[in-house]
Amino acid sequence: MNQKSAAILTIDDESLIRQSFRFYLEDCGYQVQEAENGRVGLGMIRKSLPDLVLLDLRMPEIDGLDVLQEVNEKYPDLPIIVISGTGFIGDAVEAMKRGAWSYLLKPIADFNALRYAVEQALEKARLIVENRNYRKKLEEKVRLRAQALERSNQLLRDTRMQVILRLGKASEFRDKATGRHVIRVSCYTKILANCMGFSEEDADVMALGSALHDVGKIGISDSILLKPGKLSPEEWKEMQKHCLFGRDLLTPLSIEDVEGFTGDMSGSLEGIISDSDLLQMSRIIAYSHHEHWDGSGYPEGLKGDDIPVAARIVTAVDIYDAIGSKRPYKEAFSEEKCLQIMHEASGTILDPAVVKTFFDSLDLLQQIKAKWAD
Ligand SMILES: [Fe+2]
Ligand SMILES: [Fe+2]
Repeated sequence: MNQKSAAILTIDDESLIRQSFRFYLEDCGYQVQEAENGRVGLGMIRKSLPDLVLLDLRMPEIDGLDVLQEVNEKYPDLPIIVISGTGFIGDAVEAMKRGAWSYLLKPIADFNALRYAVEQALEKARLIVENRNYRKKLEEKVRLRAQALERSNQLLRDTRMQVILRLGKASEFRDKATGRHVIRVSCYTKILANCMGFSEEDADVMALGSALHDVGKIGISDSILLKPGKLSPEEWKEMQKHCLFGRDLLTPLSIEDVEGFTGDMSGSLEGIISDSDLLQMSRIIAYSHHEHWDGSGYPEGLKGDDIPVAARIVTAVDIYDAIGSKRPYKEAFSEEKCLQIMHEASGTILDPAVVKTFFDSLDLLQQIKAKWAD
């Protein structure tokens, strides 16, 4: 809007006053319309919104205060200058309370004061609109930035997930298990963690961490890992080391580990070598997923609650998945047999609370088993 050609509506029951305003303001370059009372004025405002209203207070039919009220409710950005007779100064104060932008006293002795009030109100209205547009643009920018940030965060999460699942898959490959074993174990872990009351975030970390439970098998030689027959006591001892290898592999990197690396090192060195919840969780699971509730497991022979709960969960779902899967050296057990073994392992190999949760959430677990079947 060009301020000078702004449309001004003057609402006043005295035609001489309306006329004098019109002549003066048209000389200033404004377009001026007139209404002889509040009812007509409101009708004109509803039909075509002016840029500014000059409003008398004492008028027949609908008076100025009522006009002010309606305009304020419906068109809060429309500037209204109240022009009130000197005898009604209390009304002018009331009008300001109800949202009039400014007021002038009638009769107007100096029309420059009118022009000044009009210019001020129009400028203020323009600034309000400009400010709002600016804020809108800013909000839009912030929204787009947040969206872009969320996209790149998601990409990072996806990449992290991929790296972990592939690493888990690589370790299971050596054992002739399929990558689906890792996915199933991860999904089962999430279900049990959820049912045991862990937060969504903790359950996610546990589930992702469980994918690396056997990552230490990378360090076991083929002659032992793939031996078809029974392992000798020495070989069995060696095999058990996969828990230690897993823990060591998932220990934070040292400066020496990354010193010679020439790839993208745009992240901070502290960030690259630091520990994280996920790293910690996978380390705990890799190290303790062969501990048994009754203390007969390895590598530490921990008992009961001394075994980290995440490891107790993974032990259960790893066993459930292994006995139900076909491997080159064995057939898969039937579901019935698997459930019987799980039941019997409660309190010996497995934490009874985990086994109870396992049976409580069997429907969900079996859905995963079917969905990710080999
Ligand atoms: Fe293992
Ligand atoms: Fe496994």
